[in-house]
Amino acid sequence: MKNEIQNIKKLFEEDLINAKDAASLEALRVKYLGRKGIIAVLMQKLPGVAKELKPKVGKELNLLKKDVEGKIKIAQSTVLKNAPQKADNIDITLPGTWKDGGKIHPLTKTLNEVNDIFISLGFKIAEGPEIEREFYNFEALNIPLEHPSRDAFDTFYIKEDVLLRSHTSTVQIRIMEKTNPPIQAIMPGRVYRPDAVDASHSFMFHQVEGLMVDKGIKFSDLKGVLNIFAKQMFGEKTKTRFRPSFFPFTEPSAEVDVSCIICKGKGCRVCSHTGWLEILGAGMVNPKVFEAVGYPAGKYTGLAFGMGVERIAMLKYGIDDIRLFFENDLRFLKQF
Ligand code: PHE
Repeated sequence: MKNEIQNIKKLFEEDLINAKDAASLEALRVKYLGRKGIIAVLMQKLPGVAKELKPKVGKELNLLKKDVEGKIKIAQSTVLKNAPQKADNIDITLPGTWKDGGKIHPLTKTLNEVNDIFISLGFKIAEGPEIEREFYNFEALNIPLEHPSRDAFDTFYIKEDVLLRSHTSTVQIRIMEKTNPPIQAIMPGRVYRPDAVDASHSFMFHQVEGLMVDKGIKFSDLKGVLNIFAKQMFGEKTKTRFRPSFFPFTEPSAEVDVSCIICKGKGCRVCSHTGWLEILGAGMVNPKVFEAVGYPAGKYTGLAFGMGVERIAMLKYGIDDIRLFFENDLRFLKQF
């Protein structure tokens, strides 16, 4: 009897493999589980089994029945699921299954656009550390000890001489220390400043630094590069304006504005009725910086610029609160 049960089990497994559609599964069910099926016939033999073996054999028979029932059911539902739907069974008014694919974060999207524009102009991407020495954040960039930005209230210090970089200009120094001109690189990354968080300030934000060093780089190259950037980022009709400014590491220095992308220069709330929006700081590399990295005096000139990615994204997409970038609110993120 025991052998018989084992044989039937094997036989059933083979039959099951061959039963590939609803009809053959139904035939299988009748063959094994029907009133005159194989298992029913076996059950009828149970009274003839020796008394002491009866409970064990009975139990095995029941297990076999359950196993066969379960496996047929599973096979039936699989066949049902895979069966092609008949055309008249499809309700085309039902909403489709919606897959939420995830999106690129608006800051990443903006950064990718900025990177692509400069890559198309021949710039390479470089990166540097976020934890820095004072030399890279200040000294080499001609920012003297008395400069207010070196105060612990204006920079996150980890310990003496170790700080969270407050701008990506640090990476200019790291590249020039390692490489001789020609250099043409952009340097994206996070920067940190101990500002109170509000709609336009964050203790952490992103910058993209730019640097070009060679013999004979001129201010007109700076204007050319940034004009192309502004037009590609904000539209062909965008104008740029270079206002005299000051940075210790560039001379001369400029703040660069673009014609307001909302009102096209007529004056509106976004541009405080000036028609212009400030987008970045720039200038010609100060010879003192070349001296700090050990370049021979008078041999090279260079251009440099630095922009805030959040600011560019806010202008481009009309976002009025920087905190939205960091709150991970899907209602905001899904719009991009
Ligand atoms: N590092 C400057 C800032 O954070 C921006 C800048 C970069 C200005 C390069 C000029 C040249 O404000």
